[in-house]
Amino acid sequence: MTSVDVALGLVWPTELRTDRLHLRPVTVEDASLVRELLTDTKVRAFLGGPASEERVTARQASYPTRAGSWTVVRVADGQAVGLVVIGPDHRCDGAAEVSYQMLPDAWGKGLGREAVAAAVSWWTEAVPADGPLVAVTQAANSASRRLLESIGMRLVDEFEEHGEQQCLYTPAGDDTELRWARLVAGRVDAVERRRGAQARATAMGQELPDDLTALSPGELARLCSDRHGAYGRICARTAGHVPALHLGRAPDGAWIAWVANREE
Ligand SMILES: CC(C)(COP(=O)(O)OP(=O)(O)OC[C@H]1O[C@@H](n2cnc3c(N)ncnc32)[C@H](O)[C@@H]1OP(=O)(O)O)[C@@H](O)C(=O)NCCC(=O)NCCS
Repeated sequence: MTSVDVALGLVWPTELRTDRLHLRPVTVEDASLVRELLTDTKVRAFLGGPASEERVTARQASYPTRAGSWTVVRVADGQAVGLVVIGPDHRCDGAAEVSYQMLPDAWGKGLGREAVAAAVSWWTEAVPADGPLVAVTQAANSASRRLLESIGMRLVDEFEEHGEQQCLYTPAGDDTELRWARLVAGRVDAVERRRGAQARATAMGQELPDDLTALSPGELARLCSDRHGAYGRICARTAGHVPALHLGRAPDGAWIAWVANREE
């Protein structure tokens, strides 16, 4: 589970209200809206084209279970007119990505802007400052870019993805800078921790794979039997070792040392 999932889990479910819209968590009753959005050629023009049947079914099932997925309801007539989703950004671990799609009939009335602005402000104000929020949109998607710029988001990067030029936006402001700084610092810490611990590991421990689940039963049998599974740690020393100082790996793959006590 990513830090974004954890942060969302703490504040979900959440409903947001604006002058003309009600954003509420997606439910299974929204299956037809999800289908319409994912298969509409206009909506999907800058999103890789209409989605396959398999993908539609997968999304219909996953949105209602994912924290951060809202159905955008137009208050005037109670119609569901779009989706706004905040979730982990696959490009940058620790960052959240906001995505949005509205039914074409609702376009051009400022509803997209209203919905996305509400979700972005909610994330930046209400969610504990775990990581930055990004929005990525094709450079050619002028409606989406206008929307992001009109709610004060700032273009910070351009890159190619899926064979198209993409623009990456973040909300402007000091808080965003702080979130990026935290994200980068957190990554540096994790890398340093891993490097330092690895340098101190035993020769046996050095041979353990990063993914401890890849160990065969035979390999596990040759290791210290006090594997401390309750903590997810595996001692990499040979079976029956003394003294009681265990050297091994934590569930995240980092090298650690610990002394056994009676409870373990
Ligand atoms: C992007 C999208 C959500 C905008 O929704 P919307 O409700 O029409 O947005 P708004 O009415 O709030 O308009 C936002 C801005 O886009 C502009 N805009 C709207 N349609 C436009 C179009 N076809 N071409 C260029 N600009 C357009 C509006 O004029 C407005 O800019 P302004 O502030 O300068 O007036 C909608 O077009 C959509 O669902 N597109 C398909 C999905 C998609 O591409 N999502 C983005 C990637 S996650």
